[in-house]
Amino acid sequence: LLGIGVLVSGRGSNLDAILRAVRNGSIRGARVRVVVSSDPEAKALKVAERYGVPAVSVSTEKGRAEAEGEILRALESHGVLPESGLVLLAGYMKVLSSAFIAKYADRIMNIHPSLLPAFPGLRAQKQALDRGVRVSGCTVHFVVPEVDAGPIIIQRAVPVRGSDDEDSLSARILRQEHRAYPLAVRLFAEGRLRIEDRRVVVKA
Ligand code: GRF
Repeated sequence: LLGIGVLVSGRGSNLDAILRAVRNGSIRGARVRVVVSSDPEAKALKVAERYGVPAVSVSTEKGRAEAEGEILRALESHGVLPESGLVLLAGYMKVLSSAFIAKYADRIMNIHPSLLPAFPGLRAQKQALDRGVRVSGCTVHFVVPEVDAGPIIIQRAVPVRGSDDEDSLSARILRQEHRAYPLAVRLFAEGRLRIEDRRVVVKA
């Protein structure tokens, strides 16, 4: 069974979508073993609780190295191991060190609310509106040290309407995030993702 750890900072709607997909059997052969939040007040902690998944919060006050040590211990003690586990960033607002990323090499995913490589970084939906693009969407990718730059696993597009504001566009993209992220996890759990030349090949 694939052991999954989910890192969160906020609302937790993607966490919810993944937990639901495990529960209803659309993701098979995997279990979310632990949720780690950078914020003790995050709504995502309540989502974990609803599904009976152990959750901890790890503050970054004492510095990133200390925090990442704690995260690593939380993951390992719940069976999310560097050689065999999967770490999901789901609205996690901290940047992981390259040492941490190297430990879980090709075993960390993130979801980002734009069609990467367009609009990396914060407030991607606002960036898209400001540039007047007609299409945006979301991207699930493997994590590399450069933020939002790793190999792309899945993208889903949505139209951008003239009447959109940041909230309406974010909501339209979020509905696609909730489909894309569980699908990417399912493909990983089924052993169908391979990275070749910085690109992800999906086996049929
Ligand atoms: C999502 O828009 C995700 O793409 C971005 O942060 C947001 C997290 O939302 N990385 P939620 O906490 O999963 O509801």
